[in-house]
Amino acid sequence: MARIFNFSAGPAALPLSVLEQAQSEMLDFQGSGMSVMEMSHRSKEFVAVAAKAESDFRSLLGVSDDYHVLFLQGGATTQFAAIPMNLTAPGDVVDYIDTGSWSAKAIKEAGKYCQVNVAASSKSSNYSYIPAVDTWRTSDNARYLHICSNETIGGVQFKEFPELAAPLVADMSSDFLSRPVNVDQFALIYGGAQKNLGPAGLTMVVVRKDLCGQARHETPGTLDYALQADADSMSNTPPTYAWYLAGLVFEWLQQQGGLDAMAATNQRKADKLYAVVDNSNFYQSPVQPDVRSNMNVPFTMPDDSLDAEFVSGALERGMSGLKGHRSVGGMRASIYNAVPEEAVDALITYMHEFENEHG
Ligand SMILES: Cc1ncc(COP(=O)(O)O)c(C=O)c1O
Repeated sequence: MARIFNFSAGPAALPLSVLEQAQSEMLDFQGSGMSVMEMSHRSKEFVAVAAKAESDFRSLLGVSDDYHVLFLQGGATTQFAAIPMNLTAPGDVVDYIDTGSWSAKAIKEAGKYCQVNVAASSKSSNYSYIPAVDTWRTSDNARYLHICSNETIGGVQFKEFPELAAPLVADMSSDFLSRPVNVDQFALIYGGAQKNLGPAGLTMVVVRKDLCGQARHETPGTLDYALQADADSMSNTPPTYAWYLAGLVFEWLQQQGGLDAMAATNQRKADKLYAVVDNSNFYQSPVQPDVRSNMNVPFTMPDDSLDAEFVSGALERGMSGLKGHRSVGGMRASIYNAVPEEAVDALITYMHEFENEHG
């Protein structure tokens, strides 16, 4: 079997044991004589899979009964619109913090529905830092304050979360379940599954119940949080197979010791990679040290003509997905939960070799 060390930003690596379990259950799920893929979402087997995934997710992240947990479709991008549709009326003001490409996309989409105040932005510094909270120019009447907890492209991550008056909304697409968070600090957390939770096709929303039920009239029913919560996320056919796989990932996370253990491993993986960058005159990080992401590690070399050679040499050594995003160039190693520490060690060995050869 030829498995590769997969550093892709998403869709991304899944735990091998999860894939093996899915493989073993592919043709006959628990004696049902069919794959989960072929099963009615109303069947007792699937309803049990769905409920177990929700309860495991709640216990991993510590989500109380004050919140709905929704298993939706459409990606985080659809939530960029669904959030203002559910939480605001036309003319309402919302605050956004602009820390990278994904914040910027969320801002642009929200602007179709309400008045967006960009309370702080690091754009003029190429998104290399997070503006200090005491410099944010928030509005008095904002319906919510939106942040992106981890900018997948720029590699910038909030290490702690602001406690301000407006309800806090966070796009956690690329650091969901990579570390514990205090859910009670948030009004809404959302993210696509395809980095840390499972395959593409599933979008998770954790939303405080008291904020639901006032969606705009024109909100599509599938995006109305109250309607979806009433229907246990099955107001239409949900992404059943992705939901099942996410459930397997949640079980795997529990076996790893939960989010505290995951966070410790992720910190160790990131620290050793950044140490290589910091101890070299060859590699550079574009991000200020205090906000460097533990999930997405961008780095550059003195001459971008070396990029293609770095990527092809990596592939020869069994490592893929290292090319930086087309908008920023350079390299990017995404080291999500399911990327094993051996993969990071292999990358480090290769980085030393490459530097010796070209530095
Ligand atoms: C932080 C962040 N937000 C939003 C998105 C968009 O997610 P989707 O493609 O699931 O709509 C991504 C995708 O990479 C992301 O990394």
